[in-house]
Amino acid sequence: MVESVIENLNIRDDGIYADLTAGFGGHSKKILEKLSERGKLVVVDRDPFAFEHLKQIFKENKNVIVLKMNFKDIALDFKFDGILLDLGVSSFQYDTPKRGFSYRYNAPLDLRMDTDENNRFSEILNMDISQIASIIKNYSDEYDSYNIAKEIFQKIQKNKLKTTFDLKDAIIKGKKGRDISKGLKRVFMAFRIFVNDELNSLQILLNRLPFITNRKCRVVIITYHSIEDRLVKNHFKSSTDFLPVHKKVIKPKYEEIISNKRAKSAKIRVLERV
Ligand SMILES: C[S@@+](CC[C@H](N)C(=O)[O-])C[C@H]1O[C@@H](n2cnc3c(N)ncnc32)[C@H](O)[C@@H]1O
Repeated sequence: MVESVIENLNIRDDGIYADLTAGFGGHSKKILEKLSERGKLVVVDRDPFAFEHLKQIFKENKNVIVLKMNFKDIALDFKFDGILLDLGVSSFQYDTPKRGFSYRYNAPLDLRMDTDENNRFSEILNMDISQIASIIKNYSDEYDSYNIAKEIFQKIQKNKLKTTFDLKDAIIKGKKGRDISKGLKRVFMAFRIFVNDELNSLQILLNRLPFITNRKCRVVIITYHSIEDRLVKNHFKSSTDFLPVHKKVIKPKYEEIISNKRAKSAKIRVLERV
């Protein structure tokens, strides 16, 4: 997937590029390899741990700018020739128990990418069943959203929704034996999207793309679930500023899926500024 992303960014060695979801710098390093000293790379992540790591790995590179911010706020005094968005959570976030992203470990319910921000999860504690069900349905397409929301609501009433395992227990009860592991994945994802306001950030950035890009700028977007991909697809359907480079989305090769389970649901869309 990395090769395909780099190829599709169509990198010019003196161009200005942005990796707006840099995580632990895997893609950024590959972009940098293609740049000469005249090129520039802006590396962004909202996660403070990712930011510290990125600062460290690029500290010797004078043509790399590392920023800790939500990409929806990106505003610099130059425009980009290529932008990469590799959406969702990093393996580091997902695999660090205390971050609360995964139902595999028991931890306080956190789910924030930016741990310097207030945790929006507390808003859920004041919601009624239908509001909780709407979050689950709208952000994950989970069909048992109401039953799960009812179980979550009951835990909240008893002051017993504090940890990832409390949430896991409510989801398992709500699923009543059907598709439990899919249900767990979907509900944790739905709450993560809500807590981080992910779709809103993405929509704001997509709306701003014409103002932050040069002509011929390539935008490569990797999504990992259908709701995000639908948003991207629909946005560009009516766009007169960007045209798709490929007729179909790019999907990872079989070998990539075998070596990286997350890649299974990845879809890559490539757009070019007219
Ligand atoms: C799938 S990981 C990216 C992995 C990265 N491409 C690499 O090679 O290591 C997604 C990253 O994007 C960050 N992220 C997600 N939404 C963001 C946003 N709105 N603004 C800034 N960073 C964001 C997350 O914190 C996470 O580190």
